[in-house]
Amino acid sequence: MGRIFTQRAINLSVSPTTEMAVKSRALQQAGYDVVDMSAGVPDFDTPDEIKDAASAALAAGYTKYSPIPGIPILREAIAAKLKRDNGLDYKPTEIVVSNGAKQSLANVCMAFLEPGDEAIIIGPCWPAYANMIEFAGAKSVFVPTQLENGFHIDINILANSVNSATKLIILNSPSNPSGVIYTREELEALIALIRKNPDIWILSDEIYNMILFGGVHVSPASLPYGFERTVIINGLSKAFSMTGWRVGYTAAPAPVAAILSKIQAVLTAGANSFVQHAAAFALNEMESASRMMRDSYLERRDMTVSLLRAIPKIKVHTPDATFYAFPDVSAYFGSEYNGIVIRDADDMATYLLDKGFVAIVSGVEFGTPNHIRLTFSISHDNIRKGIARIADMLEKLHRSRKEKQPCQKKVF
Ligand SMILES: Cc1ncc(COP(=O)(O)O)c(C=O)c1O
Repeated sequence: MGRIFTQRAINLSVSPTTEMAVKSRALQQAGYDVVDMSAGVPDFDTPDEIKDAASAALAAGYTKYSPIPGIPILREAIAAKLKRDNGLDYKPTEIVVSNGAKQSLANVCMAFLEPGDEAIIIGPCWPAYANMIEFAGAKSVFVPTQLENGFHIDINILANSVNSATKLIILNSPSNPSGVIYTREELEALIALIRKNPDIWILSDEIYNMILFGGVHVSPASLPYGFERTVIINGLSKAFSMTGWRVGYTAAPAPVAAILSKIQAVLTAGANSFVQHAAAFALNEMESASRMMRDSYLERRDMTVSLLRAIPKIKVHTPDATFYAFPDVSAYFGSEYNGIVIRDADDMATYLLDKGFVAIVSGVEFGTPNHIRLTFSISHDNIRKGIARIADMLEKLHRSRKEKQPCQKKVF
């Protein structure tokens, strides 16, 4: 029989987060009280004013196809936001609006990568990058960072991963899952590296740049020589609690914007027309709502980190941004509870859900198998309850390992 599906489609991996979400929902439907700390979703409703702007746009008849790269008022609002927040000078014509930042990422990978190419991802990182790179036929090259260095980039390791096949370096600052914000110095070192390698572009995913807890977010495009070789990705999902609205965008020099727009014309055409009007309103008028959400995450971040720090043997750093905590739980690997052995973060995630009824995401998914990711954009009560359950389940592992030791001693 001939081939039905392409290898690139077959090779796509289904995210374990999705599997965990399905399992967590099934447990909840069966009547279990599950604390879900797995999803990357703000817990606020989209502000009413933004909903009203969408309703007004609908009522005004914005229900037809929109221009492929986005409606002018939204592209202007995005250019103004980039100027305000990052001191960047993009023309509205250098902005391409898409159906979420995920589509922007797909557009960029399709534009820059083909078989034989390599793209560097800096881990721990969002798993969609590797999937998308490979879907475009290229190879993803994983460059790790370490908790001990606050997940900052080691430019020497990065430089050693560059070769003549490298076409893209994907940055995500602030980072999902680590919450690190790359410093100006680190970005300058990176730009010095790409200056020496004229075929390499930076893809800078800045989707968490309105959820900062202090610190300054620097876009590589704002640095000398950065603008010419950077494609920025951003969107409204996280900053305005608009994950379901599907608005993302790229900002890049005009020839890049033109090719991204051409790809989008083939794949999906312009984004939802009335949603774009609401998105322009959000960017122009609703920054204070976004700041209010950020303040609330900051309070919950502090609570989450201090509760996690009280658990023996967990190593946790304080994220500078985002709504994720990313503790190292590897001290518990090799222990067991009632015959369930915890070898890595995947086992830990399954154990915490099946036995502790708390859903988290395994670090394996982000390329960092010693860690787990917990979302703290949930209620204070649920943060307390979820972390208490994690502490309890780890304590059980702890005990079972202690109980095993005398027995091991007897054997040896
Ligand atoms: C780092 C990162 N980039 C992009 C996205 C996707 O954003 P959007 O909802 O605009 O597709 C996510 C969503 O989780 C993310 O974590």
